[in-house]
Amino acid sequence: MLLQLSSWPEVEAYLSRSKGIIVPIGSTEQHGPNGLIGTDALCPEIIAHQAAAQADILVGPTFNVGMAQHHMAFPGSMTLRPSTMIAAIADWTASLVRHGFERIYWFNGHGGNIQPIGTAFSEIYAMSSLRQAQGNQAAPRLSLRNWWELPGIGELCREIFPVGEGSHATASEVSVTYYGYPQAQKLVEMSPKIAPTGFFRDADDYRRKFPDGRIGSDPSQASPEKGERIVKAAVPALIADFTAFLSAA
Ligand code: NI
Repeated sequence: MLLQLSSWPEVEAYLSRSKGIIVPIGSTEQHGPNGLIGTDALCPEIIAHQAAAQADILVGPTFNVGMAQHHMAFPGSMTLRPSTMIAAIADWTASLVRHGFERIYWFNGHGGNIQPIGTAFSEIYAMSSLRQAQGNQAAPRLSLRNWWELPGIGELCREIFPVGEGSHATASEVSVTYYGYPQAQKLVEMSPKIAPTGFFRDADDYRRKFPDGRIGSDPSQASPEKGERIVKAAVPALIADFTAFLSAA
């Protein structure tokens, strides 16, 4: 069940069955020469939408612009400052809590989001700890899960791409988007075949070190078929992980 395609009476009825929701969260940022700008938002969205079709799970709108300051030297990238992102996550959460949601599972597709999401959780819990929550409402239970860290998924990605998986514009994430949107595939020769690796600071530093945007990857290996294998494994893993979260102490 997708929040965006539901009516309010349907959401009210869902809340009588479950107090949990999955919110996909990603980024709008360059993903190398053949990767889609929306990759980090599309990957968790594709997996979560399939999960919602297979189980009685409500999936919220995708939080699709994240913390991507280091990608801003490439056209099309968009970013929130960490402080803006933290405030927006707190407002999204407060909106859901207002309606009775008690367990909010943020399903993430972007490494740069991990710190702001964690800090947002601390902000939300601090409101409760300082007794400043609205109407003294108990703090919601919050969970952050990166899609590539679902049980079994990292192993599967390494099995499919033993060489050139990399850490940005990875062969696996590009495959997942090609499975979801085969019409958006781009055939590009990679040069060098496998991109360099290393650390970065701001956008100019990033582009100097990683001129085509990739880090450590060869995403020319990506295909819809490989993406399908990853998604078909990730969907039951997500359903199981979310179900466990719903009953966790
Ligand atoms: Ni990515």
